[in-house]
Amino acid sequence: MKLSATTGIAAAAALAVAGLLAPASAQAAPAATAAAPDIPVANVKAHLTQLQSIATANGGNRAHGRTGYKASIDYVKAKLDAAGFTTALQQFTYNGAIGYNLVADWPGGDPNTVLMTGAHLDSVTTGAGINDNGSGSAAVLETALAVSRAQLQPTKHLRFGWWGAEELGLVGSTHYVNTLPAAERSKLTGYINADMIASPNPGYFVYDDDPELEKVFKDWFAGIGVPTEIETEGDGRSDHAPFKNAGIPVGGLFTGAGRLKTTAQAQKWGGTAGQAFDRCYHSSCDTTANVDDTALDRNSDALAHAVWTIGTAAPVPPGDVYENLNDVAVPDKGPAVTSTVTVSGRTGNAPATLKVGVDIKHTWRGDLVVDLVAPDGTAYRLKNSSSRDSADNVIATYTVDASTEAANGDWKLRVQDVASQDTGYIDSWRLTF
Ligand code: TRP
Ligand code: ZN
Ligand code: CA
Repeated sequence: MKLSATTGIAAAAALAVAGLLAPASAQAAPAATAAAPDIPVANVKAHLTQLQSIATANGGNRAHGRTGYKASIDYVKAKLDAAGFTTALQQFTYNGAIGYNLVADWPGGDPNTVLMTGAHLDSVTTGAGINDNGSGSAAVLETALAVSRAQLQPTKHLRFGWWGAEELGLVGSTHYVNTLPAAERSKLTGYINADMIASPNPGYFVYDDDPELEKVFKDWFAGIGVPTEIETEGDGRSDHAPFKNAGIPVGGLFTGAGRLKTTAQAQKWGGTAGQAFDRCYHSSCDTTANVDDTALDRNSDALAHAVWTIGTAAPVPPGDVYENLNDVAVPDKGPAVTSTVTVSGRTGNAPATLKVGVDIKHTWRGDLVVDLVAPDGTAYRLKNSSSRDSADNVIATYTVDASTEAANGDWKLRVQDVASQDTGYIDSWRLTF
């Protein structure tokens, strides 16, 4: 275990010695976070009209493997290409049919710090999928087009994604995350998901995941006087799940699916109590008539606000790194093992955004349960075991709210392999304060 030499303080001192740091008074003020534009809801609705026409012309749906899906991808891609994005189609095969993800990069920003925003573009076979998920797809598209109109020069690199085959089990987004090289995955500092954001009897739900993303959304809604609730209608039921499983901070917005709006919710948001947020969820009536314009407008603006706020924020200075580089074998379907990092010489508590960098080599990561154990023994779950988590290695950086823990002491990474056959070892891990 060692304290890495490249701490923030040490790095700054090195620059100062080299004469690269100007005195504070002569330094340019850090660029203020740029304010997002108001996204014109008419533009978002125009995309929905096009997606509806595509469905109507292709047997009534935009489902995986059907002509309406490819036509939807072509529509979105053409808009992005014309606006100056670098686009790429990613192909995969599922159920004997070719599926597509579309990834669009806005040139510029720090290539090592990527903020991604995405939505699934496929519908179920029973309908056009205009709320689910034309709404999220159109809002993400219009946010990207607004970035181009503003010729935004963000601090982070901005990437946008449209996923295939979500309705068949998050297939496209899982494929994207699993095929992204580990080095590229570690550059993703956040993923924002938009799935169903214009439900006709809307609620205003914010994902309760990464604290920073959650706060950006909550603050924006508070600013327009709209109360929000935490999203609880199925955590992990959309494309943020594979990102979250890979240790990438996630957030997102949702206006409700088949669940019924309560009386209390109708009082604060309007609409009809005792009725589903979306009575046309996964049905043939999920058309352009199945959209609440106000919800679509607010959520589109909220998405743009998050992309601008996080995408143009001043870069975070490097923290102090404490790491353990020694290998620890993880026995197959055996007891938990630990690797220790000792933190000393700090004052007060650990940060609310303690970064836990994990590098575990393993032939089937679904076998592994991974916890961070604080000096007082409190365990923070980083990753659960799951038979669906079918990839190798756990190479990820998790963010833990450790603000109630004393910083100093012995921190442990605890890893247990709970299923037989596949094995591996802790290669290294680190805490960044
Ligand atoms: N596409 C999702 C699905 O069909 C819709 C959904 C349900 C959802 N619950 C959610 C999306 C919670 C985001 C969050 O399962
Ligand atoms: Zn959906
Ligand atoms: Ca095993």
